[in-house]
Amino acid sequence: MSDAYLTIADLRVGFASVPVVRDVSLAVQRGEFLVLLGPSGCGKSTILKTLAGLIAANAGTIALDGTRLDPVPPHRRDIGLVFQNYALFPHMSVAANVRFGLDMRGVSRAEADSRVAEALAMVRLADVEYRLPSQLSGGQQQRVALARALVVRPRLLLLDEPLSNLDAALRAQMRFELKDLHRRAGLTTIMVTHDQMEAMAMADRIAVMQAGAIRQIGTPADIYDRPGDAFVATFVGTPPAALLPLSVAADGAVRIAGLPWSPPPAIAAALAPGDALLCLRPERAVLVAPDTAGALPARVVGAEYFGADWLVHVTVGATPAIVRTGGPAARGDMVGVLISVEAPLFDASGARRIDRIFSMS
Ligand SMILES: Nc1ncnc2c1ncn2[C@@H]1O[C@H](COP(=O)(O)OP(=O)(O)O)[C@@H](O)[C@H]1O
Ligand SMILES: [Mg+2]
Repeated sequence: MSDAYLTIADLRVGFASVPVVRDVSLAVQRGEFLVLLGPSGCGKSTILKTLAGLIAANAGTIALDGTRLDPVPPHRRDIGLVFQNYALFPHMSVAANVRFGLDMRGVSRAEADSRVAEALAMVRLADVEYRLPSQLSGGQQQRVALARALVVRPRLLLLDEPLSNLDAALRAQMRFELKDLHRRAGLTTIMVTHDQMEAMAMADRIAVMQAGAIRQIGTPADIYDRPGDAFVATFVGTPPAALLPLSVAADGAVRIAGLPWSPPPAIAAALAPGDALLCLRPERAVLVAPDTAGALPARVVGAEYFGADWLVHVTVGATPAIVRTGGPAARGDMVGVLISVEAPLFDASGARRIDRIFSMS
């Protein structure tokens, strides 16, 4: 923790005594691209605004590069902030928009000229420097906002849903460009998004948030393959994973979503009497004939075609689940669902991942 570039410790923020950020602690390494991921309203923007000094914390500390940030006023924090609405000055050219922050800081004309040129080159906008924002596409406007943040050479770059206003195709392209820009500029970056695909594609590490608290911090592979709780398991992944209630009786009889089940040996070996939730990812299961050994008993309720694959919707008992397949399945058919990769198990409340089901007694 102590050698981290940015350290947030026990941060608490509330509005009119309503807690919004609850004891958040986070360490970010120099040059890291960290993504805060969580549903709308979970407190992501509030954390960014607190880092930028736009909101005061109720408790906790923030340290950047070895010094306390909380007593420093916003304009002296050297933090670049980019929001989803680019907030460009409409009457000013691209170059003038980018230059604005340097003029405010009293940077010399020659120095400003070269830094504006450098920032525009960095976001690949050198050829449109004299245009007005209204003469640019949404993606170009977003890049102007980025250049404006980069030109002051911030110690930390904060991006709040920077791609949310772009259409789907442009968003995918900007996702790639922004990540490339991070590689080239090497700036320590915290990006906020509610889009888990964006988080998976861009992050060195993801902090998954829910209701003002961080549920799990890890690499995209940690978050996806080793989710710490049922919230993380179902929030990350498209379409979402299903959670199937699993119970093991004292005599070893297994029921899944209320139905008798003879699990394959690898899963059976992890079971002991008790209750749990089994996490089923659509891409980590295959459809097989209903009597296949180890398969979950399921009924097809419908299928969606996406060109490259199908999503077959099934129910196991009363619990809905989705399986990604290479072909269709007919509504009403009984099928088997075979788990193809080790599936995480959670305790019955979903609060934590478990390696085994432990006895309730
Ligand atoms: N200025 C404010 N005054 C009162 N409540 C606020 C204010 N800003 C945010 N909130 C509330 O704080 C919670 C977290 O907001 P926010 O950090 O913007 O969430 P997110 O960015 O994750 O969508 C929400 O319930 C929101 O309504
Ligand atoms: Mg927000």
